[in-house]
Amino acid sequence: MCGIVGAVSAKDSIAFLLEGLSTLEYRGYDSAGLAVINHGLQRARAKGRVAELAARVEQQALSGTIGIAHTRWATHGVPAERNAHPHISAGLAVVHNGIIENYEALREQLQALGYVFTSDTDTETIAHLIQACFKGEIGEPAENLFSAVQCAVKHLTGAFALAVVSEEEPDGLVVAREGSPLMLGITEEGHYAASDASALLSVTQQMMYLENGDVARLTRDAVVVVDAVGQPVKRDIVTSHLSANAVELGEFNHYMQKEMFEQPQALGNTLEMLSGAGQLHPGIFGADAQGVFEQVDSVLILACGTSSYAGMTAKYWIEQVAGIPCNVEIASEYRYRVSVPNPNQLGVVISQSGETADTLAALQHAKTLGHTHTLAICNVPESAIVRETALRFITRAGPEIGVASTKAFTTQLSALFLLTLLLAKGKQRLLEADEKAYLDELRHLPIAVEKVLALEPSIQAWSQQFANKHHALFLGRGRHFPVALEGALKLKEISYIHAEAYPAGELKHGPLALVDAEMPVVVVAPNDEMLEKLKANMQEVSARGGQLYVFADGDSKVRSTDGVKVLAMPEHYGLLSPVLHVVSLQLLSYHVALVKGTDVDKPRNLAKSVTVE
Ligand code: M6R
Repeated sequence: MCGIVGAVSAKDSIAFLLEGLSTLEYRGYDSAGLAVINHGLQRARAKGRVAELAARVEQQALSGTIGIAHTRWATHGVPAERNAHPHISAGLAVVHNGIIENYEALREQLQALGYVFTSDTDTETIAHLIQACFKGEIGEPAENLFSAVQCAVKHLTGAFALAVVSEEEPDGLVVAREGSPLMLGITEEGHYAASDASALLSVTQQMMYLENGDVARLTRDAVVVVDAVGQPVKRDIVTSHLSANAVELGEFNHYMQKEMFEQPQALGNTLEMLSGAGQLHPGIFGADAQGVFEQVDSVLILACGTSSYAGMTAKYWIEQVAGIPCNVEIASEYRYRVSVPNPNQLGVVISQSGETADTLAALQHAKTLGHTHTLAICNVPESAIVRETALRFITRAGPEIGVASTKAFTTQLSALFLLTLLLAKGKQRLLEADEKAYLDELRHLPIAVEKVLALEPSIQAWSQQFANKHHALFLGRGRHFPVALEGALKLKEISYIHAEAYPAGELKHGPLALVDAEMPVVVVAPNDEMLEKLKANMQEVSARGGQLYVFADGDSKVRSTDGVKVLAMPEHYGLLSPVLHVVSLQLLSYHVALVKGTDVDKPRNLAKSVTVE
């Protein structure tokens, strides 16, 4: 959600700033801007993509060794050039990722001091606030930009990562963070800042992760960091394991396509610890996991979007295999509702990014309610969510750039299945022979997913028939109901077709009224204990002229007829079948979106990593 980069370098920073923004564009893409210090402050901004900004920068012939830049996902104020960052107050410019909750009160205070606002954003408040601190209109007059930023952040409520430059100090920039990620790139020739490590990879893998409350001043030769109480601190420099080509598109047309096809590898990496293992060890979730898994009496899963559907699937597994109750709550609801805490419950947060504001807040809320047993399933090891849980499992999907989550979901499912087995072991409910059989199935999963990906041509052929539809229904039962939800979300998100998912037995309680010849109904039909019930539900659709598109296991005995199209899934996969079925629905959405010509990786109104509430 928004991306920021900054540079203080021996050479011109424009190429780094624009490349960094392009890498971060998936986090927000409605406008972009940059500012450099070169005989004064110079700024370029543009509505639209980074490419529009690059053209402006060229037109304006901007250059400079010190600069900051931003790609925006609008929160306060419509996407427009005047709302694009950087925001300026006299000779000082600010880029910001996050939300300032008290910006209205600050705006009034600053207007009373004579500051004139030219945008609708919360960020412009920060620029004027730093200026007011600099001049001593708020607090004591600041000695320099660094102390002005330290003064200003004390007045801000909300989440932010900031980068600030001033023409008064043409030798460096100041950054600060609270709640939103920010890291520095350390090189011989200069220092860099970004809201995501991937934007730094073009210059270095040596990174310094700032903590909440940190303010740092970057010059070409030095980095000085102070913590939330103004004490100088040293933050470790770590080598990022990300490689620059992990975020490159390579032979693929879209990141979503690349990430779908990376799923066998992502699953293989995530489950690497199983190779040759005869049994599972709780230590894969952390040193204290064994005791916790034996002690807890239930599970509470907190997540948003696709990650919440992974949690819903796990509910079926955990209750069936481990025999303990499992609740799944949408993080944005849980954090505000009055719930009944249970200190013996395992609180599990699931997040690809580890930075989703609602999920992080839900975790913090659970902890304040007395949940001490917390566990994160996350794809980003350095993320805020991982740092705040007692136990953790890092999925090894690699960077996920496409806004539509794919490989993050299937690797989350594999991690949740491991958790299920370990909880069952902790409760003495897993026979050795069953454990071995489940581990074999997990090990075979990458190959099974390959076979589903090979169905692409047939799924692509179906996609033509969805492209002119305005609505679609997705049906599933049992552990495949969350798969239907995920299939509907994917279709909505990238093809803009309105899609709803129902547990198939619910159709007759209302949604059947929507079914006619214009309504495609996608059915997830594995050969499991619910198949016969599901077939009856499909009859209800056919009898009303609905068009069925059925993903059936080969041995399901569902046949293609008039109004019923059937695609045979390569393998029946028991409890793990959701991992396979969801891949076919990802492919369907992707191809429908291609036919419709939407921007698959950057769907309208959305962005990756929702770091605002
Ligand atoms: O990073 P997270 O897993 O916490 O993100 C949660 C949701 O924002 C995310 O899954 C979203 O629903 C995806 N765009 C779905 O494809």
